[in-house]
Amino acid sequence: LFSKVEELPRDPILGLTEAFVADKTPHRVNLGVGVYQDENGKVPLLACVKLAEEAMLAKAAPHTYVPIDGYAHYNAAVAKMVFAESCDLANVVTVQALGGTGALKLGAEMVKVATPNAKVWISDPSWENHRALFAAAGFAVETYPYYGADGELDFSGLIATLEKIPAGDVVLLHACCHNPTGLDLSQDQWRQIAKVVRARGLTPFLDTAYMGFAEGLETDAFSVRLFASDGGPLFVSFSFSKSLSLYGERVGALSVLTANPQERSRVLSQIKRIARITYSSPAGHGAAAAAAVLADPALRRQWDEELGAMRARIKKMRQLLADKLAERVPGRDFTYIVRQNGMFSYSRLTKPQAVLLREKYAVYALDSGRICVAALNEKNIDYVAESIAKVMVE
Ligand code: LMR
Repeated sequence: LFSKVEELPRDPILGLTEAFVADKTPHRVNLGVGVYQDENGKVPLLACVKLAEEAMLAKAAPHTYVPIDGYAHYNAAVAKMVFAESCDLANVVTVQALGGTGALKLGAEMVKVATPNAKVWISDPSWENHRALFAAAGFAVETYPYYGADGELDFSGLIATLEKIPAGDVVLLHACCHNPTGLDLSQDQWRQIAKVVRARGLTPFLDTAYMGFAEGLETDAFSVRLFASDGGPLFVSFSFSKSLSLYGERVGALSVLTANPQERSRVLSQIKRIARITYSSPAGHGAAAAAAVLADPALRRQWDEELGAMRARIKKMRQLLADKLAERVPGRDFTYIVRQNGMFSYSRLTKPQAVLLREKYAVYALDSGRICVAALNEKNIDYVAESIAKVMVE
């Protein structure tokens, strides 16, 4: 039966973690996957989450099914946090999803219901899984320019392409902390994009997996709220994996801004069908913990502080890495590392350099040169800087 089944290459991101786990080099460093690690190299259990979980355990609720579209109080809390006052929440469908990827999948299938012949436009480059996920949902996937030949944002190329995209097509944008480049759009650039997207009748789909990692939850919600403020339509995939450090719990949400409550009800019915035939209903624990953090003002404040500390530590690592590389590779500018946002830096390592870095120094970066700066700490940064500098000059 399986004799003709083809062996697929490993996943470009999670497959790298598999290779890392199998590598027994003592000083190995995984800068592949986007996972925040603290100053001791550990994935943190946030205190706000721990407190919420302790309160949940004390109540010891039974493990009954979660509704198809997730917990209503979780969905309402996420919608309020993401959209605030930017639109009428009576027109927003928010459905609990299995992390950001699960939200994208629900969204992709919903786009397929609404506009089956649309093409989906993603940035060049984009998160490795975007193309695969939308292609698997039956879409032709195209790209718009994003990362320029000079290593900076190609904004004029981006706008020029948007101006040519046919009405009805979907434009996938990264709400903040662009993955993989770390290059973000200014508020003014977002306004220009929104204007073109709306004027041309394109459907914006904002992937929001790193809210809180650029400037803070409120500021990072700017792009979503800008698009929401003109009444939609709008798709927003959202994830708590990084911001609440709930990776393994798969806690996310898909929101769709529709024109009115009747449309909302029809869209919700479709998304529920998609969820039901895909996984029936989502898991409960992580979403319940996230909802508890959002509902309790003290836990919510604590979360803001903890997220702020993660953000500050990442920015510190960016600065240290840039300084250490500048010391070791004189005459080369590394300030771009500091100007990028979020967990990632597009390090400007070429693919052969990334391979050498992995094979000779056991420092795991993606082949694209993306490195996760959130995995750097005071103990590994000298080794990482030294190894990157060596492969850059070798
Ligand atoms: C990443 O880009 O590393 C993360 O979003 C994790 C993933 O699922 O790829």
